[in-house]
Amino acid sequence: MENTIQILAISGSLREKSSNTALMKAIIGLSSADIQFTIYGGLGDLPHFNPDLDLDDGPSSVQGLRQQLKEAHGVLICTPEYGNGVPGVLKNALDWIVSSGEFMNKPTAVISASPTPMGGDKAHASLLLTLKMINAEIIEEGLMMIPHITLKLNKEGVITDSEMEQRLLAVLRALEQACR
Ligand SMILES: Cc1cc2nc3c(=O)[nH]c(=O)nc-3n(C[C@H](O)[C@H](O)[C@H](O)COP(=O)(O)O)c2cc1C
Repeated sequence: MENTIQILAISGSLREKSSNTALMKAIIGLSSADIQFTIYGGLGDLPHFNPDLDLDDGPSSVQGLRQQLKEAHGVLICTPEYGNGVPGVLKNALDWIVSSGEFMNKPTAVISASPTPMGGDKAHASLLLTLKMINAEIIEEGLMMIPHITLKLNKEGVITDSEMEQRLLAVLRALEQACR
C-alpha cells in the first residue's frame, strides 16, 4: 500500500523468552494496518565491530542490517539494560552504522524495559547518546522507560497494564506521525 509505513523493530535481547522481544511484539499487535513492521533478526549474527572490516563490501550480515535500515521509514528499539549499560549486541550493531549513516534523520522510538524499578534508565540514556551521535531523529513522545515489566506483560506476552498500553499507543502514534 502506498501509505504504508515501514518500521524496523529491533530488540536488544537475544534471549528466547525476552520480555523486551515480547513487548516489541505486543506493540506491533497494537499498531494500525497502516504500519508494517519488520522484526530485525540478525543482531546475534553480526560480527564484532572492527573498522578494518568496515569496507565497501563489508560483512554480508552488516550489509543486510544497513539495507533493512535504509528501507525502513522509522525504527523501534526495545531493549533491556545489562551491567548498567546498553546490551553489547545492540551497541555492536549501532557501531556498524556510525560510518555508513543509515540512521541519519531516521525517526526512532526507544523503549527500555526492566524487571527492576529503574526501567533500564542507564541503558536508555546511553542509547540516546549513541543514536544522537549517528543523527537519528529521536522522537520525544517515542521515548519510554518501563519499570517492573514482568508485572505489566504476562507470560503469553499480553499487556496487562492499561496505563502502559495507552502510553505505547502514544509512542506508536508519534512514530507514525514522524514517519509521514
Ligand atoms: C548479567 C545481567 C546483568 C543485568 N544488569 C541489569 C542492569 O544493569 N539493569 C537492569 O535493569 N537489569 C539488569 N539485568 C536484568 C535484566 O533486566 C533482566 O534479565 C531482563 O529480563 C532482561 O531483558 P529481556 O527479558 O528482554 O531479556 C541484568 C541481567 C543479567 C543476566
